[in-house]
Amino acid sequence: MDVSTSTPTLTKVPVHVAMIMDGNGRWAQKRGLPRLAGHRAGTENLRRIIRASVEFGVKYLTIYAFSTENWGRPQEEVEGLLHILEEVIDRELDELDQQGVQLRHLGHLDRLPAMLQEKIIRAVERTRDNDRLILSVAFNYGGRDEIVCAIRAMMRDSVKPEEVTPELVSRYLFTADLPDPDLIIRTSGEMRVSNFLIWQSAYSEWYVTPVLWPDFDREEYLKALIEYSHRERRFGKLTAQDDSTDCAC
Ligand code: FPP
Repeated sequence: MDVSTSTPTLTKVPVHVAMIMDGNGRWAQKRGLPRLAGHRAGTENLRRIIRASVEFGVKYLTIYAFSTENWGRPQEEVEGLLHILEEVIDRELDELDQQGVQLRHLGHLDRLPAMLQEKIIRAVERTRDNDRLILSVAFNYGGRDEIVCAIRAMMRDSVKPEEVTPELVSRYLFTADLPDPDLIIRTSGEMRVSNFLIWQSAYSEWYVTPVLWPDFDREEYLKALIEYSHRERRFGKLTAQDDSTDCAC
């Protein structure tokens, strides 16, 4: 089968794919370009990946665009990434909306420039009824921060200890009404979780490829999906059916 021209029949498609888009800096460095050129190439690639997600029948796509730790990068790079997100919203929103993409934001808005906050809120609002692909952009997001905020919110709501269950915790996270990711793809070969969806990824399948994010195209994505389709998921049990998850505390 020529996977480059035809849409393949996959035996099992992940409902929710999350991606750590790593390697933009190295991609740029290899070409003697500034790091921001790598982020721009990575942004171009994102369009291909969104299109391919729709084509392959992935329902939820979550991307890690800016972590709570990324504020520690040089100011020029931080400002560049904030600017790229703003540009993406300005330039791509009409098309994303027409494609039926629902945009969501995971993370805190408050540290972002006011104009960007407004654009994110308006983009989320405008696309809220779309359901072809749910695209969640983790921007100013950190998994530990998300869990700490969830605990604080539960305490503010006077949740009793015996009422705390995995399901309740999930409902207090930024991802409250998203299914857990079935597959997490990390590009550029790094074997790290990097504070991404640390609660939600408890039983996700991982796929790590040495390919740098700007080069992670449709064919590379397809390779990940084909590998996923061969994985047997047992969720820590002997079969995927056994569904007992009691807390012992
Ligand atoms: C990690 O690569 C990538 C990021 C921190 C940013 C990812 C952002 C994009 C792909 C731009 C599109 C996103 C938006 C705003 C919607 P790195 O810079 O750490 O790469 P390196 O490890 O090679 O240095």
